[in-house]
Amino acid sequence: MKKRILLGIISGLIAGGGLAGCSEQNSTQKMAGAPSSSSSDSSTGVSAHWPQLTSGIARDPAVEARIDTLLAKMSIEEKVGQMIQVEIRSATPEDVKQYHIGSILNGGGSFPNNNKHASVAEWVALADAYYHASVDTSDGGVAIPMIWGTDAVHGHNNVIGATLFPHNIALGAAHNPELMRKIGAATAAEVRATGIDWVFAPTLAVVRDDRWGRTYESYSEDPELVRAYGGEMVGGMQGNPDAEDLLQAKHVIATAKHYLADGGTLNGIDRGDAVISEEELVRLHAQGYFSAIEAGVQTVMASFSSWNGEKMHGHKYLMTDVLKDRLGFDGFIVGDWAGHQFVNGCSNVSCPQSINAGLDMFMAPDPSWKELYKNTVAQAKSGEIPAERLDDAVRRILRVKIRAGLFEAGAPSERAFAADESLIGAPEHRAVARQAVRESLVLLKNNGNLLPLVRNQRVLVAGDGADNIGKQAGGWSITWQGTGNQNSDFPGATSVYGGIAEVVEAAGGTAELSVDGSFEQKPDVAIVVFGEDPYAEMQGDVSNLDYKGDADLALLQKLRAQDIPVVALFITGRPLWVNPEINASDAFVAIWQPGSEGAGVADVIFRNAEGEVNHDFKGKLTFSWPNDAQPTVRNPGENEALAQFNFGYGLTYGDTVEIAALSEQSGLKVSDSAEALAVFNGRALDPWSFQVMDTANNLSTISSSVAKLSGISVQSVDRKVQEDSRRLRWSGEGSAMVGLFANSRTDLTSYLGKQGALVFDVKVDAAPSAAVSLGMNCGTDCGAEQSITELLKGATPGEWKTVAVDLQCLAEAGAKLDMVLSPFYVRTAGALDMTVHNIHIASKAESGVDADIHCG
Ligand code: BGC
Ligand code: BGC
Repeated sequence: MKKRILLGIISGLIAGGGLAGCSEQNSTQKMAGAPSSSSSDSSTGVSAHWPQLTSGIARDPAVEARIDTLLAKMSIEEKVGQMIQVEIRSATPEDVKQYHIGSILNGGGSFPNNNKHASVAEWVALADAYYHASVDTSDGGVAIPMIWGTDAVHGHNNVIGATLFPHNIALGAAHNPELMRKIGAATAAEVRATGIDWVFAPTLAVVRDDRWGRTYESYSEDPELVRAYGGEMVGGMQGNPDAEDLLQAKHVIATAKHYLADGGTLNGIDRGDAVISEEELVRLHAQGYFSAIEAGVQTVMASFSSWNGEKMHGHKYLMTDVLKDRLGFDGFIVGDWAGHQFVNGCSNVSCPQSINAGLDMFMAPDPSWKELYKNTVAQAKSGEIPAERLDDAVRRILRVKIRAGLFEAGAPSERAFAADESLIGAPEHRAVARQAVRESLVLLKNNGNLLPLVRNQRVLVAGDGADNIGKQAGGWSITWQGTGNQNSDFPGATSVYGGIAEVVEAAGGTAELSVDGSFEQKPDVAIVVFGEDPYAEMQGDVSNLDYKGDADLALLQKLRAQDIPVVALFITGRPLWVNPEINASDAFVAIWQPGSEGAGVADVIFRNAEGEVNHDFKGKLTFSWPNDAQPTVRNPGENEALAQFNFGYGLTYGDTVEIAALSEQSGLKVSDSAEALAVFNGRALDPWSFQVMDTANNLSTISSSVAKLSGISVQSVDRKVQEDSRRLRWSGEGSAMVGLFANSRTDLTSYLGKQGALVFDVKVDAAPSAAVSLGMNCGTDCGAEQSITELLKGATPGEWKTVAVDLQCLAEAGAKLDMVLSPFYVRTAGALDMTVHNIHIASKAESGVDADIHCG
């Protein structure tokens, strides 16, 4: 846990970037994306690029009057409590009562009693426990029902037996906005059955760089489609703004997330920085919010990411001036998983900046929330958080709660549909999911019109995705990353193989499941199901677009070599370069991550019992498919020539298109160079820059020769020539870090075979007073650290030494060497005075190393 938090902080540092053409000296990142006055509405300061919108749900004076009455009775403590959302693993019902907590959540893979197999009754019982605590006024105070938020991002995905819809990338391919309404409604009904009020969906990201690990949570790289879907999904979940049962009965509160431009970060880095103009921000990334607001979406989640170096969680212009004032959003903004801590000057337990910028509810999932509560109360009392801002935040939260009827609804178990197990994985919901599967499949190749297949034949079903529901469900499926599940964790679901077996066997054929493709009797046709294993945020980022599936390719080729026609079904969360796999198959279908209803695949690829086309392919790409594996962005209007299959591509049974052999040049440089790579040689080399996280959690990019920050200073000093080294001094007042960070990834794997190491010269002038770590980082929750405390303590003061740490050792400790963002940083909470010189990556044998940093 400790390591996780730490790496999170480091990622805040990376993602903040501070690199975007920032020429100011030692600039802390205050450079907002604020518009130039020339294009802005002079009365509000909001750029004219933004439309003026009205929420689909009208303001009701009676509701506002009721809020006035409540607010008048509430203490500051109660108000702050409403603004803090805690997680079920780190807050008890007793805590909710004592701190007047306004909301709870369960994170991905978080269940009642920590039981993955928790029953519907247990979910409802836990909701009841928190509810009763929230309205218990035995210690005084006002009774305000809590709301519970959950990630139901493709169905109620934390709950065993729930319908799991295809992930958003698949839904996009269906090009069917009305279907989104049905999916939203079905999801909401299943959520209601567990006593939960609120879902953290839909994701409205418009993903531009498919290396991002959350690409599959996006409907499209095209803003128009995201706009067409956003409002429908919100309408399905919340109900129609003018309907009686708006936000009630089988409906829930929806969340538009992650505001804003989560899908626009440079190099597709999770929690990274969208370095774009305001015009582009509006045209590409904001479109989904427009329809969501018009449909009356009641909550918006702030993004972890930044816009031009400024963190969204602290972005007053975009949260307050744009979203609330210009776009007319009158619900509340919730943070994302302690995301406030990355705002300049903030920490996990204190961030008035975020509230003052417009965040209304902190998502505070770890046990430190009590301290956050205490600090926020103090800041509200001192006026650091102005009373009007506090009241506005609470007003927004109460408005949503009143609109959702929570004050009248009683305990979760007493509400309509609560504990109705028949809704979880209900046949009518599964039917919608199966329809979504059918409509989302994209036929990339169908040479010789191999598809559709007749049922009555000998079918071999191979590949590790054939009978693997966890794999076909992807991330955010029961567990957070979607890993560690078995078919038995998905009761009621059907694998792709299961669906095939059903139709083939009913028609008198045979469907043999053979993961490795071996068989006793030669099949008439082979269907190979393979692709990406599940992943979610952070862990899903990749450095290029190569599909790393040598074993799958070999399997396809082996079957082909035996003259067996091959149908490839590719499970994936994003377009990847699969030209060799396409060449090795006769028909190739992108089936994305279909979820629990794998049978939808057989519906399309087989003829019906009469031998006619059963369901034709409807899916069309909403993401451009790459023609090589290079990490190049490909979108309509952006490198279109580098698409193998363009946006909108998708064959149908009426087409007779023969795909000739595709290029098998991946475009990736296979470098085995071990030539030294300089990171710092007097100046930080491209793409890196010196960055500091000081003891006050302020992030600064250092470009001047002297930078004195809180508890740490960086100074250019001479060793051999002027200013060829950096003196780093920590005062010991708190934890601070300095290192070389980039907004793009560097691949260091070519050094591995050559005894590659991170090598640098160091001179110690004052030995460390506490532990010191040397680290390499590859993103949030990605990296490795080694202790250098003893090495520094043992150094002769004033004497230079060349030290090295093996890349192999860093790789074994968790650094992904193909995606390095920071090759070098040093962190300590103690006092230390050291100077570094000549930081590089090189073969250790050739570096004249004086000391090794030992692994472990
Ligand atoms: C939670 C997820 C959350 C993630 C972020 C996980 O432990 O379960 O819901 O998104 O942490 O760090
Ligand atoms: C994710 C959100 C999610 C939240 C709660 C975060 O890490 O970015 O999408 O809603 O966790 O699980």
